[in-house]
Amino acid sequence: MGSASKGNTYTLPEATAPSLVLTHPTDTEKHRTWTLNHREWGGALTLEEYLKREPYLMSVPLSRDGGMTHWILTDSSWSPEKGEQRPVLASCETIRKRVMVAAPNNTEVHDGIAHGIGSVFTYPEFRGKGYAGRMLSELGPTLRRWQSGDQDSVCSALWSDIGKHYYAKKGWTAFPSLHIEFPVFDNQTQLNGEGSKAKANVSPITYDNLEPLCKIDEQLLRNNVLRSARQTGKTTVAFTPDYDTMRWHMYRDDFITSILFKTDSPSPIKGAIAGSKEGRRVWALWSRNYYGSNPTETVDKNTLYILRLVIEPDAELAPGQPPSQDVRDAFAAVMQMALAEAAKWHLGKIDLWNPSDTTKLLLENSGLQHRWVERQEDSIPSIMWYGKEDINNVDWIASEKYCWC
Ligand SMILES: CC(C)(COP(=O)(O)OP(=O)(O)OC[C@H]1O[C@@H](n2cnc3c(N)ncnc32)[C@H](O)[C@@H]1OP(=O)(O)O)[C@@H](O)C(=O)NCCC(=O)NCCS
Repeated sequence: MGSASKGNTYTLPEATAPSLVLTHPTDTEKHRTWTLNHREWGGALTLEEYLKREPYLMSVPLSRDGGMTHWILTDSSWSPEKGEQRPVLASCETIRKRVMVAAPNNTEVHDGIAHGIGSVFTYPEFRGKGYAGRMLSELGPTLRRWQSGDQDSVCSALWSDIGKHYYAKKGWTAFPSLHIEFPVFDNQTQLNGEGSKAKANVSPITYDNLEPLCKIDEQLLRNNVLRSARQTGKTTVAFTPDYDTMRWHMYRDDFITSILFKTDSPSPIKGAIAGSKEGRRVWALWSRNYYGSNPTETVDKNTLYILRLVIEPDAELAPGQPPSQDVRDAFAAVMQMALAEAAKWHLGKIDLWNPSDTTKLLLENSGLQHRWVERQEDSIPSIMWYGKEDINNVDWIASEKYCWC
C-alpha cells in the first residue's frame, strides 16, 4: 500500500467515518503525493524535474507567503508526530486569488477573496471509495472562511478535468467552457506578415512593461463588472487580472520552457500590444504548454494559451457595435505576433478561452483560421458561491485562462 503502514491490521475507513479529517500534509507527505501524481500532472517534465517544479511554484508571486495551501484528507487516529505514516486518502491544493464583484444595484465594485482549487487527487489504491468526495465536502465550507479576513470568501473555483458532473454534484457549478482554437500553421497569411502588422504599432510585452498594463486592465475590468451587473441584472464576478496572477503563469511557463529547451533564457516575449494610442489599444498576455519532453514531436498538441485579451475601447462600444478599423488592425497585429511566437516555440495552436462579444466581432472578417471548441471533459470552469445569491443569478465575466490554476 502506498501510504498506510500500520501492519496488516489497518482496514480502510468508510468515507463517512468521523475520524477522517481535512488537514495539511507534512513535507514528506507532499513529496509522496507529488511522486504519485506526476503521472497525471507532470506533463512534459520527468519525475525529478516535476519534484523541483512543485516546490518552486510555492515560491513565486501569488502562491508564495502562504498564498498556496496544501490539503489532505487523512485518518486522525494516526499520529505523524509518533512517526506513524498516516494514510493520505485524498489531496489537493488551493491558491488565494483576488476577485471583483458587484450586485446589479451596487455603485461600487467590492474586492474579495476567492480560492482556486487544483490537483484534486486520490492515490490509485484508494480510488472509488468516496475519499475525494469527502475531502471536497469538508473543503467547500472550510474555504468560505479560509484566509479571508473578517468577511467570507466570495467563492471557490476549480477547472474540472473529469467533466461537468462530478464537481457539480459536490456544489461547484459548471460555467461555460468555450474556446477558440487558432491552428498556427494554417494561418500562413498572418504568419508571413501579410496581416495588419504594418498598420498597427505592435510591440512585445515583457516583464519590463507588464505591471502597468495589468493595473490598467484591472481598472477596465472593474468598470466592466459594474456595467455588466447593471445590464444583466445579475451579480457579476471577475478574477482580478493582476500582476501576481500573470507572473504565476509566466514563471511556471519559464520553468518548464527552460528545461525543455535547455536554456537559461526562455522567451522574454510574454504578450503583444498594438494600437494607435492609449485608450485604443489591444493586448494579449500568454503562456506556453507542452505535452512531451521533446517539443518538436508534440507540436500538434503544444498550445499557446492567451491568458488575457484586453480591448481597451471595449467599454465605449454599445452591445453588438463592431469595433472600428484601428481596433481591428490592432487585434490582427497582436494575433500575428502570437502566431509568430507560437511557430518559433513549436506550439501548433493558440487557444483563447471564453471570448467576449467584442472579440467575436473582431474575429469576423479577420482572415484568421479558427474553430470553436466547447470543452466537455477538461478545464471546465466551476464555482462554489459563498454569497447569498443563487448561483444561477451569478455571472462570471472574463473567465479566461489567467483565472485557471
Ligand atoms: C478523480 C479522483 C480524484 C476521484 O477520486 P476518488 O477518491 O476515487 O473519488 P470518489 O470516490 O469520491 O468519487 C468517485 C467518482 O469519481 C468519478 N470519476 C473518477 N475519475 C473520473 C473521470 N476521469 N471522469 C469522470 N468521473 C470520474 C467516478 O466515476 C465516481 O463517480 P460517482 O461518485 O458518480 O460514482 C481520482 O480518480 C483521481 O485522483 N484521478 C486522477 C487525477 C484527476 O483526474 N483528478 C481530478 C482533476 S480535476
